Amino acid sequence: MRVSLLFIPLLLLHIPIVSHAAAIHDAAMEGDVAAITAALDAGADVDESDGSATPLYLAVFMGHIQAAKLLMERGADVNAQTALGSPLMAAMGIDKIDLLNLLLDGGADPNADGSSQPALHAAVNLGCLDCVKALVEAGADVNARAEDGKTPLHMAKRGGQREVADYLMSHGVVLPTPAPISMKLASANVEKGRTYFTRVCGPCHNAEPTGGNKIGPNLWSVVGRDKATMADMRYSDALLSWEGVWTYEDLNKLLLEPMATTPGVYMEMPGVSDETERVDLIAYLRTLSDKPNPLP
Ligand code: HEC
Repeated sequence: MRVSLLFIPLLLLHIPIVSHAAAIHDAAMEGDVAAITAALDAGADVDESDGSATPLYLAVFMGHIQAAKLLMERGADVNAQTALGSPLMAAMGIDKIDLLNLLLDGGADPNADGSSQPALHAAVNLGCLDCVKALVEAGADVNARAEDGKTPLHMAKRGGQREVADYLMSHGVVLPTPAPISMKLASANVEKGRTYFTRVCGPCHNAEPTGGNKIGPNLWSVVGRDKATMADMRYSDALLSWEGVWTYEDLNKLLLEPMATTPGVYMEMPGVSDETERVDLIAYLRTLSDKPNPLP
């Protein structure tokens, strides 16, 4: 949210720019190979932006593969960033797989960022398994985070895309595992944990015995409780399929980076990357009980 708000003024700056839609841009939009050739022969710049996009972006966006080939043969930059994104972003979609492959073969960077997410995230978002495969085969990082912290696997699981999720899992996804923290709990700062909880977790979680669920389940007595068992909560498959009670180490893992350690989780927040903060927080969670579990 914070990031997209930042982008609005940028976009507004772009939109009023007078469109210099030269002949080559119209020709690219229409996939008119002869007109593109004529424009280039007459001296048009192959990478000229019409204020929002290059001819290659427009040709790809409109699905004109011959026009895209011609522009690339005539030296168009396959990685040119335009106000609308890179040509790769315009090639996203099941019906455009040939264009996507053309760009990747022509040197398009599979890890290029779109406005807020890498191309692989966009492909997952669209549920385009072929696009995902093409990007990964060309070297896209399956562990890349979007600006909001989402991983491709998390998005695939949230979207119920089993095939995409299985493909990513078998192509290098690494689920982060934090170092054990149990032995550090005895010296933790519970008060700092409480403050952190109130600020970061409180908006989504109740911590009083009588409080109900909010967006997330009530966390009274969460340590030692069976996972995903609060009544009236609709849990994700990711949590429902995680066996056992909440141990300190399982909390450590969930809280490190929920969307990466527990892909598909409904708790979409960046996580608590700082170990000391995480330890303080887990020590505080332990106190949310009539009879706190013993410290290790
Ligand atoms: C944006 C809302 C949100 C925030 C912020 C949030 N959570 Fe959650 N939390 C959820 C949701 C939703 C679930 C259910 C997840 C699922 O089913 O995948 C959940 C689940 C949990 C669970 C599992 C409980 C159970 O019943 O099995 C724990 C533990 C937890 N959160 C702890 C925390 C802590 C600690 C913080 C602060 C660092 C936090 N959460 C921040 C929304 C949030």
